[in-house]
Amino acid sequence: MEQTATNQTENTVNTATEWATNAATYLDECNLEKSAEFQKEPRRYTQKEAVDYLRINAKTLKSYVAELGIDPTNGDHDHASWSITIDELYRIYDYTLAQTKEGKKFNIKPLFKRTQLQKAVRISLNNQKGGCGKTVASVSLASGIATEYRERYRVLLVDTDPQSNASQYYAPGAHQQDRLTATDLMLDNFDLDEGETFRDVVKSSCLKTTIPNLDILPATQSDRSIDNLDRFVKSNDVENPYGLLDNILNQVEDDYDIIIIDTPPATNMATFNAYFAATGIVVPVSPEAHDLKATAGYFEFLPTLVSTLQNYGHPGYEFMRVLLTNYSNNSVGAQENRSELTRMVGSAKYEAGIVESEAIRKLANDDLSVFDVSQSQYPRTKQTFLSCKTNLMAVIDALMNDIFAVWKKQESEVK
Ligand SMILES: Nc1ncnc2c1ncn2[C@@H]1O[C@H](COP(=O)(O)OP(=O)(O)OP(=O)(O)O)[C@@H](O)[C@H]1O
Ligand SMILES: [Mg+2]
Repeated sequence: MEQTATNQTENTVNTATEWATNAATYLDECNLEKSAEFQKEPRRYTQKEAVDYLRINAKTLKSYVAELGIDPTNGDHDHASWSITIDELYRIYDYTLAQTKEGKKFNIKPLFKRTQLQKAVRISLNNQKGGCGKTVASVSLASGIATEYRERYRVLLVDTDPQSNASQYYAPGAHQQDRLTATDLMLDNFDLDEGETFRDVVKSSCLKTTIPNLDILPATQSDRSIDNLDRFVKSNDVENPYGLLDNILNQVEDDYDIIIIDTPPATNMATFNAYFAATGIVVPVSPEAHDLKATAGYFEFLPTLVSTLQNYGHPGYEFMRVLLTNYSNNSVGAQENRSELTRMVGSAKYEAGIVESEAIRKLANDDLSVFDVSQSQYPRTKQTFLSCKTNLMAVIDALMNDIFAVWKKQESEVK
């Protein structure tokens, strides 16, 4: 008997070790594909897309491109198909803005500048249900807000999930570069250099992405040490165990207008911190039957979560929303569940949801959001890409309306 038990223990250890070794090989191979220097291509704009964005005619665009010394052939002069990068597009926009100041008339908007009364809006996307579309929603919202509004809102995407899926999109080299993650900052896993402040460390941990006005505070797989957060909090006698992320984001409050926080499928210390740091919450829900039951269980837990946070001084949320994700308009089951969801949360559910789309699925395989590529780069049916983008814009517009309402309220409160 004892012999069998020993065998079983040994077998378990051996199997686990074998899986771990094979997995490490697999991860090494993935990392080879994405070396530390790997940077994905910035988004490119065709002439038509640039004209649409800049609202100037093609002739003016061409002359500005020449005046700014931009090469719209991507170095390939012989097979020149016209396109410019997002950085170049922004340069032309700034140039056009400068001309407006000199009295020329263009149909463009000034860049957004928060007033002193307006605060950065921080939105946490969480549902303890795994795979319900949190990361796709977080990444799509963050990149869409950054690229699709000419006001050029400054967006920070925060990844608090050790699976680091959101980070794969915008900081694929973070792990090899030994970048500090949101978790490292929460765990105080760093030493300050001479003359360096905590704010300096947080600022330099928010990494640039291929979109100039989108930064990311990444997670990496080694963030499993988030499990240590409980121990850290106890052994360091932390006054507010849920306020660690909030404290980090306070350091960069002036650098961003909108902060989107992607979370793990759990209600652990990381998610509590995301909730505490947030000023608004969006719960992504996939309206499949089993997902809805899990979400219902999660809603049952929300009052406990909210009161715990309020005991530590959280002032409550500016908005609480539910966002349907990854569903088909034709599915009868999904329609029934959407009605059930409306019964649970009423008008808090956004009218528009993120519909299941081949474009999202296909691009996500390459860690790309729909807003990372030009329509002309999408390899499949253009219509699929376009309708996905239109759908996402409806969701983004709805969220932006909530954000505008917050800023409007903040402006009027003190007057
Ligand atoms: N609207 C959509 N259309 C097509 N595929 C989608 C859509 N939303 C999500 N998916 C796919 O579903 C899977 C799960 O999505 P995602 O990673 O966003 O979920 P998640 O809630 O972040 O998961 P986890 O709980 O593991 O963090 C991914 O493969 C993603 O590409
Ligand atoms: Mg995720």
